Amino acid sequence: MTLILGIETSCDETSAAVLRGEDELLGHVIFTQDVHRLYGGVVPEIASRAHLRTLDDVVEGALREAGVGLDDIDVFGVTAGPGLIGALLVGVSWGKAAAWAGGKPVVGVHHMEAHLFATQLEHPDARPPFVALLVSGGHTMLLWVPAWGEYVQLGATRDDAAGEAFDKAAKILGLPYPGGPSIQRAAEGGDPSRHRFTRPLLNRGQRPAEAEYYDFSFSGLKTALRNRVRDVERAGELEAEVPHLAAAFQDAVVDVLATKTLRAVRETGCRRIVLGGGVANSRALRAELTRRLGGSGAVHAPSPRLSTDNAAMIARTAHFRYTRGEVAGLDLNARADLPFPGLRKR
Ligand code: KG4
Ligand code: ZN
Repeated sequence: MTLILGIETSCDETSAAVLRGEDELLGHVIFTQDVHRLYGGVVPEIASRAHLRTLDDVVEGALREAGVGLDDIDVFGVTAGPGLIGALLVGVSWGKAAAWAGGKPVVGVHHMEAHLFATQLEHPDARPPFVALLVSGGHTMLLWVPAWGEYVQLGATRDDAAGEAFDKAAKILGLPYPGGPSIQRAAEGGDPSRHRFTRPLLNRGQRPAEAEYYDFSFSGLKTALRNRVRDVERAGELEAEVPHLAAAFQDAVVDVLATKTLRAVRETGCRRIVLGGGVANSRALRAELTRRLGGSGAVHAPSPRLSTDNAAMIARTAHFRYTRGEVAGLDLNARADLPFPGLRKR
């Protein structure tokens, strides 16, 4: 069976994985670059340097865990984009060099397609057809996936990504980065009804033919939060209101994401939802989707380890592309804006 080494360096996780065949994960190491916490967001130049420093050790760790050597690897799969260009280049260069040295093929993987495959590594049922909601720090996409390799984009964000919205909101509330988990924690003790935020780009009058039916927008919500925080701060009540503000903000984001995802379920007639990306960790999002979908449907979400950036999903996607004969040459390059393969607009 094909032994694949996957490599992921598109943002602030340095990761390597050894996958046998389609879904036997033999080794998997994820190194999260904690240093970015100091700055409240990922600093690209620091990310590239950290990838460079740690990638050798991360690959070695994954190989050791798998009990195989570099020579045993049949195919190298690397994230070629989208992402931070300097960070991507570290992984792509490593993968090409290893492939060239061993006389093995290298496959360039699209990071967002990989998020679609991540869930399937743990949930065999998370295969097409399904409605997918990809929500990470850099992307927000609602997709219809009739088959692997065929992607219909129903909606996307027009400004901030969902994870970015959580990160910026946390910063406004004085909560630590990454924002999603901080807001979730703060919201636990909060009453979402004390502050109500208007749901951006969402109203009942929207029709399926309009782009607004599926598209997202989160930057206005961030401004609304900032204004509310200013008012509350002026009244000297910020500390006491943080949990309520966090809960109300989370509620607004989740309501918009869940409503539009359920619209896709209705229109496609497909009752299987697959989540991907860091925001898929949101307990509120999972619970709301499950509640609205009801008993006859299924919401598949990856475990925290596979929902954030990781190399297992890269190896899984490389396996798919490789079995279709899609191998890159040594001219494979990193691209910050790599187009999603097989994606078409509805
Ligand atoms: O997929 P990911 O690890 O990295 C990107 O490719 O962007 O996603 C990271 C994002 C961050 O914005 C983080 O705030 C968000 O996922 N996130 C969450 C939660 N856990 C992580 N957002 C909401 N609720 C969570 N529990
Ligand atoms: Zn990602």
